[in-house]
Order: sequence, then structure tokens, then C-alpha cells
Amino acid sequence: MKTYIVGNWKLNFNVGEASIYLHKLQRKMPNYRDVEVVVAPSAVALQPLSLQIDRHKMKLAAQNAFYRDYGAYTGEISFAQLRGLVDYCIIGHSERRHIFGEDDKMIQKKVAAAIRNKIKPILCIGETESERGFGETADVIRDQLVGGLADVSEEDIDKVLIAYEPVWAISSTKAAKMASPDEVAEVVDLVRSVLGELYGEKVAKETAVLFGGSVNPSNAGAYLTVPGVNGLLIGGASLILSEFTDIIETAKRVRA
Ligand code: 13P
Repeated sequence: MKTYIVGNWKLNFNVGEASIYLHKLQRKMPNYRDVEVVVAPSAVALQPLSLQIDRHKMKLAAQNAFYRDYGAYTGEISFAQLRGLVDYCIIGHSERRHIFGEDDKMIQKKVAAAIRNKIKPILCIGETESERGFGETADVIRDQLVGGLADVSEEDIDKVLIAYEPVWAISSTKAAKMASPDEVAEVVDLVRSVLGELYGEKVAKETAVLFGGSVNPSNAGAYLTVPGVNGLLIGGASLILSEFTDIIETAKRVRA
């Protein structure tokens, strides 16, 4: 399986800045066949960047989209409109869940809409600090997985990536804490066992599971060597070219 290094730019970079960053990133980066590098700019930059991107080196992801393909949904962008522009879409990010009120039902529909439009969903799951404190982590992870995947058939599950992002470890969260490799390993294990219950052992083993939350060049290696982790979803550090390329190099080294 490839190692996935995904940069989630969130609400940063205007179109010009995004284009310059991509230009520099592509110039600096060789083509690593076993590391899939993905960047997720804001929606306005997707169209121009889709013309600029060297798809042999990296891929584009959207950060969000709406589950209806067209219609009277003012302000929304659909997966149907993104079809052909992006290869991936981040779905159910904790910022979407907690700031914009997305629930598992909506996320379920978005995952299905992405697959219907040939876009691979990166389904984000993760518990908050208080859920962890109350010992609810396993229940939250299970609910988010079962909910998000409810419409995904056995035939389509190989298009889905899972990203475990404990909300308390995301750098924008007040007083973010770093997740320990053991804490990550425990939840990734649980993710794979739920996948096994839903789709069988092969899927449990072969689904890409990423980790995200305050990943930087100094801890990337430790997270990438957690058993069962196939990649990283990176916020802050993906905005700094030297840090992002450092993490990509680390992924390459860890695989070698
Ligand atoms: P940070 O890497 O800034 O903690 O963000 C993680 C994240 O939310 C990526 O989707």
C-alpha cells in the first residue's frame, strides 16, 4: 500500500498564494511512486490548481462538498462539480462537525456522493477531549465509522481512506496536546477491527488509515511507524513548504 501524505490547507492561501506554493512544491519534489502526496486547497483554488498540478507527482483534494449533485442549494459546491478536478475529498473533518454542525447522517451522504462522482473520500473521525475523558473514545469512533460508511458497499470500500484525528490533538484546538504513538495505535486498531466487522478481514487490513493532529517534521516518523498507520493528514505544517517536504522525505525514508 502507498503511504499518504495529505496537506489540509484549511482556510489559508488565496488563489495566487496557493498557486505559488504548488509551483514551489512541485519544483522541490521528486516523483515518489510509493508516497501519494495530496494537497487540499480552498475551493476557489481547485480549478486553477487542477490545470497546474503535475498529477504524476501529487493529487488534489477538496476540503468539503455538498451531497446533492445540483439544485437549489445556494452557496454549495457539489461533488458532481468537482468531478475530474480532484481525486480526493476530505469529509467529516472535526471542524466541519463541530463548527458547521455536520452529523454522521450528512457525512454518510457526502461519502456516498463522493464515490458516486469518482472522488475518493478521506473520512475523518476522532473524539473530543471530553469524550476521551469520559471514556467514550471507542464508542465515538465506532459510531462515526459505522455512520459515515453506512452507504458504502463492499464493492466501493476500497475507494475510502480513513483519517483518525483526535480533536484534542489538532493544533488549532486550545491547548492542543500531542497524541502519543500508543494512543494512536490503540484507536487505529479499533478502526481496523470495526472495518473487519463491517467488511471482513481483507478490508480491515487493506484500507488506508491516516493519522492527523499536530503532525510536524519531528514527530512524523514516530506516527508513520505506528503499526497500521498508512499516512498523515497535516494542517499547520503543510502550509510551510520546508516542513511539508521534510515530512514527505520522512515518509519516503520510513518506507525504504
Ligand atoms: P494540524 O496539523 O494543524 O494539527 O491540523 C490537523 C488537521 O486538522 C488536518 O486535517
